[in-house]
Amino acid sequence: MNHFQYRNGILHAEDVAIARIAAEVGTPFYCYSTATLERHYTVFRDALAAAGLDATVCFACKANPNVAVIRTLADLGAGADVVSEGELRQALAAGVPPARIVFSGVGKTRRELEFAVAKGILQINVESEPELELLSEVASARGVRMPVSIRVNPDVDAGTHAKITTGKKENKFGIEWTRAREVYALARRLPGVEVVGVACHIGSQLTELEPFRDAFLRVRDLVAMLRADGIDIRRLDLGGGLGVPYEHETPPSPAAYAETIRATLGDLGCRVIVEPGRLLVGNAGILVAEVIRVKEGTTRTFLIVDAAMNDLMRPALYDAHHAIFPVIEPAADAPRAEVDVVGPVCETGDTFAKQRPLPPVKAGELLAFGTAGAYGAAMSSTYNTRPLVPEVLVRGGEFAVVRARPGFEEMRALESLPGWFDRES
Ligand code: LLP
Repeated sequence: MNHFQYRNGILHAEDVAIARIAAEVGTPFYCYSTATLERHYTVFRDALAAAGLDATVCFACKANPNVAVIRTLADLGAGADVVSEGELRQALAAGVPPARIVFSGVGKTRRELEFAVAKGILQINVESEPELELLSEVASARGVRMPVSIRVNPDVDAGTHAKITTGKKENKFGIEWTRAREVYALARRLPGVEVVGVACHIGSQLTELEPFRDAFLRVRDLVAMLRADGIDIRRLDLGGGLGVPYEHETPPSPAAYAETIRATLGDLGCRVIVEPGRLLVGNAGILVAEVIRVKEGTTRTFLIVDAAMNDLMRPALYDAHHAIFPVIEPAADAPRAEVDVVGPVCETGDTFAKQRPLPPVKAGELLAFGTAGAYGAAMSSTYNTRPLVPEVLVRGGEFAVVRARPGFEEMRALESLPGWFDRES
């Protein structure tokens, strides 16, 4: 359920006509709906509560690190899962209390660990022995013991796209589950860390519950072993990964996901941390673009739009499907023709959809790309020296630009010509 609907034949985000935003902000732009963010968060939180779980929902900021988006979720009580100093700063700036922030990631630097320890966040999920030792050193230097979970890699196949699966033993993530016990033993000996839990995250855009169940049962076995070793495991961080419908997928409901957690881990007396990203923000965002021109090739028709792979990378990177629909609602009986929807970037990979059946669209018309709120703006770049795509947040009848489109001078302001060019002229 989302709040991007046609009203009187015109696409709206909540009570705001998309064309009105386009006229003011220019295209392309991302548009997020506050009501959809709120709905996704509350449905998910309530599902965990209904399953009787003591759960903290830490929004995976990587999916959408815009400070206004994080703030919207934080105001409802969400915590944050961050993977860099930058994301940690975004979460803090959005008002997420440090006591609800988890720091994950495979390559945290000393500087990042120092910053996280100084801020007194809830916990750091550690992914290797050297990281554990470094963290212990950093925390000891500050005279604190940092709460940690160790991220274990349960070696299950999440059945997702190869580039976003993380829980197999050949992936770079976590500690191989068979070695976890010895790493916990090491952690226990280190003065600057306090082991509080187990963490795992097996992949993203999961559309089945079985991989979660398999991973959670492995976590369960591990908790039993660790407790037998005298380690007080009291938190379980189960990562994110629950999928959303992009096309024909029917991912499990939050209630079914919560029930899987309850059935596998609910009796362990642990506080549960979950790190959903896509689920909270995916359907809460669209990307809006204008058709620059329609180009008739010999075998295909190309719809060239003013958004490109640098604005929404997912189709180029993962062959991902995003719904594409005109901002002016087509007649129900409008003929559909197969077209390739492409951007202006000089790469064949800059293709959003191949042979997609669309109603007739002309240059100057607006198109929306659905389910673009997660890993859309977050992964955008300035490739082809295209300004970073702006972001707009709608709330009821209001909208605000929450990330502006930089001007070309601003973009160049970070660059400089070395002095030798002047000397030679
Ligand atoms: N926790 C950890 C440790 C993660 O690595 C991730 C995502 C999440 C939570 C959130 O997962 P989610 O609930 O969003 O599935 N760029 C890709 C997705 C990469 C996901 C990386 N890790 C895409 O556009 O599909």
